[in-house]
Amino acid sequence: MPKKYWKCTFKFPSGSTKLELGFDLLDAKTFAFLQPRRICLLADRNVREKAEPLAKALGASLLVMRAGESAKTLKSAGKVYEFLYNAGMRSQDALIVMGGGTVGDLGLFVASTYMRGRLRCIMVPTTVLAAADSSLGGKSALHVGWAKNVIGTYFHPEKIVCDCTLFQTLSERDFASGFTEIAKTAIISDKIFFSRLHEAAFSELLFQSLSWKAHFVAQDEHDHGARQYLNFGHTLGHALESATHHKMSHGEAVRIGMRYALRLSVLLNYLSWGQFERIDGYFGYAQADLPPWEEVHMQQDKKQLSKKGQDFVLLRGIGKPCIKRGVSEKLQMQAYDWLIKDFA
Ligand SMILES: NC(=O)c1ccc[n+]([C@@H]2O[C@H](COP(=O)([O-])OP(=O)(O)OC[C@H]3O[C@@H](n4cnc5c(N)ncnc54)[C@H](O)[C@@H]3O)[C@@H](O)[C@H]2O)c1
Ligand SMILES: [Zn+2]
Repeated sequence: MPKKYWKCTFKFPSGSTKLELGFDLLDAKTFAFLQPRRICLLADRNVREKAEPLAKALGASLLVMRAGESAKTLKSAGKVYEFLYNAGMRSQDALIVMGGGTVGDLGLFVASTYMRGRLRCIMVPTTVLAAADSSLGGKSALHVGWAKNVIGTYFHPEKIVCDCTLFQTLSERDFASGFTEIAKTAIISDKIFFSRLHEAAFSELLFQSLSWKAHFVAQDEHDHGARQYLNFGHTLGHALESATHHKMSHGEAVRIGMRYALRLSVLLNYLSWGQFERIDGYFGYAQADLPPWEEVHMQQDKKQLSKKGQDFVLLRGIGKPCIKRGVSEKLQMQAYDWLIKDFA
């Protein structure tokens, strides 16, 4: 029988997060450790059906919010603060945040600031992206106007309760998009993990992915070094999301971004052809309408590129990520041309 239940604690320099991962976990027993404190449950509107019975079982006050990037604002945070205050929430009471990465980022931000961060925060991720990526690592984020994720805090949730039955209602596209983060973590972490991507049970891969993410975060909580490896594929990925006005999902764009980073790694002789083909083979054949190079704007200002170039997370082999500073525009374009031919 394959393993279906995991429990552990991830330790970081500034705190720790417990994980319980399995199936059918949303009941009073799982959350008994919070009693006798007051509990509020903040839930994504699209998982209301699962949130309502849980709130009832826990005697929790329930606030249901619309998900999506528009939820990540100070205005939404204000609504949650008000709800918590009116529900009588005080220091050491518990906020359970149930939703995808957007409601998750909002809820963690609120937990980290309400009563000066003295609430207990429990994350219940309901998308694969939230489960594999945003719930763990202690980064909360809100947007200001068009400027994304510019407000935020570092605050590790006390616990993540990851119930894999929740992902059954995700569309195939959302599931695949979130799974890209798991594939990314495998590529930068470990050969055995990578080789099991096509064969192991999803819950096992999710646990592996979280364990490796915790490993990178523990080395570099505040994103100055090893944690940046988790951005593999994201430099071009974010630019493609913007250039396609988010017609390309985050996962789809990062998937292409990873293949681009692999090509750059070959051009810089970090990877041999054989290594490249073994890793790139994982992605299989795919078609995509890539925007022309002129519409792709990566992080650093293109006007500065001729002087400084662009930084990328590249690969010297599976489990061997590295940061290459100042890649020239000529090389970037060469890799992009290659990509366009591949995806045609
Ligand atoms: N804090 C971090 O470290 C971190 C890391 C990565 C991404 N993020 C953030 O995560 C966000 C993206 O998260 P996301 O992809 O989960 O998006 P999301 O929260 O918008 O969820 C996507 C959609 O799925 C719906 N949904 C959620 N759970 C569902 C379920 N079980 N069944 C059916 N539908 C469901 C939501 O209502 C929403 O419509 C971005 O804002 C990004 O910045 C944060
Ligand atoms: Zn990502």
